[in-house]
Amino acid sequence: MKGYSAGITGGGQTEVPVSETEIITPFIKNILELSTPEAFSDADIPREELQMIARAGIYAPSGHNCQTWKFTVIRRGSEIEALENIVQKVTAEKEIKFDGFRSPGALILLSNDRRNPYGIQDVSCAAQNMMLAAGSYGIASLLTNPLKDISDETKIRSRLDSYGVPREHIVWICVALGYAEETKGSYCRKENAVIHIR
Ligand SMILES: Cc1cc2nc3c(=O)[nH]c(=O)nc-3n(C[C@H](O)[C@H](O)[C@H](O)COP(=O)(O)O)c2cc1C
Repeated sequence: MKGYSAGITGGGQTEVPVSETEIITPFIKNILELSTPEAFSDADIPREELQMIARAGIYAPSGHNCQTWKFTVIRRGSEIEALENIVQKVTAEKEIKFDGFRSPGALILLSNDRRNPYGIQDVSCAAQNMMLAAGSYGIASLLTNPLKDISDETKIRSRLDSYGVPREHIVWICVALGYAEETKGSYCRKENAVIHIR
């Protein structure tokens, strides 16, 4: 067994130090290498992989197991573009920063019932599951949240209505998916954010 192997000496367990490379599983590697793409290529995402990525979301934890979320998958480029144009207009009017979805192969809108106090946390967990699932297929992802304050704006809501997003839902997160054409590599991480209490 990897990790702290059980060197049994006199009834106790001895900690055996393990080098980091020994415990890097493909899954951990996926986490460590995940980075936000600068641009997506126009290659198509296989349908089955996209379905599995979206499905990974429903295996995320949810507060009180409410699962009041909805994941709306848009893979038609013209529809993503149409939504993006509307979001550009509304965010510009409201002076909200929005850099666009970067022409992804698919866009997943993660929404939740606004009355659910855990709604944002729940979809955040779901988004991370989706992004890790995508990474395991070599698919890059970009997380944005341009709709969180404008889901009820008339132009946006009528588009959401056309997708079947419930009226009481806010789109908290958008996950854009595709093959990275340009990548800047991941930003360095603040390792001192982790504190171990012994
Ligand atoms: C709530 C939230 C909103 C984000 N919005 C954007 C965004 O609008 N544009 C963008 O390029 N990245 C966005 N990101 C991605 C982060 O900027 C990115 O994960 C972080 O800078 C680390 O970069 P890396 O993933 O490439 O290492 C967002 C991430 C979160 C969690």
